[in-house]
Amino acid sequence: MTERDERIHSFGSDCTPAQLLTPRLLLRPFCEADIPELVPLINDFRVTGRLGRVPFPYSKADAEFFLRQVCPSVDNVTLAITCRTSRALMGCVSLHGLVAEPRRMGEIGYWIAFMYWGKGFATEAATGLLRFAFSESSPLALDVVRGAHFVDNPNSGRVQQKLGFVYDAQETASLKDGGESSLPRMACLARGGKEFATRTLWLTREQFARRQQEMMDIMAAREPENCSQTSHPPPKAEGTGLGRTDDPSPTTTLDEGPTDAK
Ligand SMILES: CC(C)(COP(=O)(O)OP(=O)(O)OC[C@H]1O[C@@H](n2cnc3c(N)ncnc32)[C@H](O)[C@@H]1OP(=O)(O)O)[C@@H](O)C(=O)NCCC(=O)NCCS
Repeated sequence: MTERDERIHSFGSDCTPAQLLTPRLLLRPFCEADIPELVPLINDFRVTGRLGRVPFPYSKADAEFFLRQVCPSVDNVTLAITCRTSRALMGCVSLHGLVAEPRRMGEIGYWIAFMYWGKGFATEAATGLLRFAFSESSPLALDVVRGAHFVDNPNSGRVQQKLGFVYDAQETASLKDGGESSLPRMACLARGGKEFATRTLWLTREQFARRQQEMMDIMAAREPENCSQTSHPPPKAEGTGLGRTDDPSPTTTLDEGPTDAK
């Protein structure tokens, strides 16, 4: 076993960085104090209806289970997405199912509170975490990351494509031949545990390295806006629309903000 394999086998909470910075965001581990902010943000079917293992409605007890059982488990790195300026909680990004063999890999997951959709925050947060995960000097030093999304969730597919993920070639071929019924299916807890057709994507360290500089340039060129605070209440739980919406609640604009990712 190489030194790197040793590290990933024994990563545990040591692998979770204290914080990661992107131009607009600060990614950090969740803590108990997040629960009151977390519950109303994720207790939204527009969010949970796209995730595999998150219940809806989402209670304080679910948040406690997430913080105490899921986040600390050794095979994942789970980070809160917060505004770098205001520290407001905006969502979550994670790498789970981390394994060292046959390749060092994990699967990416993320969600963004509805009021912040369509501003590139998921892409920016995932870029921050992937940058850390693929770095040779990080305890993860991953070779490849898997991505997946329900077929009826193209927004997530776009996020992954923007990050440089490529659709699984075999799955794409069988989709052409056999249609959607040939795709793997994954259960969605929030939709009553029913299974839905799922697409798989892959991102290697090399593919990410090629895409990374471009992503950082795009992010650094953005106006430093829209994540400090919102004048709107958290999204209501009864929303059931799963399609694209062009009407996320507007957010106030920051006058200034950091643009340095270091
Ligand atoms: C998928 C999700 C994380 C995307 O977050 P985001 O911060 O809005 O991501 P981006 O701003 O990078 O936009 C991604 C794509 O969403 C779509 N989108 C853009 N504006 C949108 C809006 N106002 N409303 C809905 N979708 C929009 C676009 O296709 C966009 O791609 P583009 O930039 O090429 O136009 C977010 O919609 C979400 O949390 N959904 C529910 C949970 C989920 O699906 N998690 C992933 C499970 S695999």
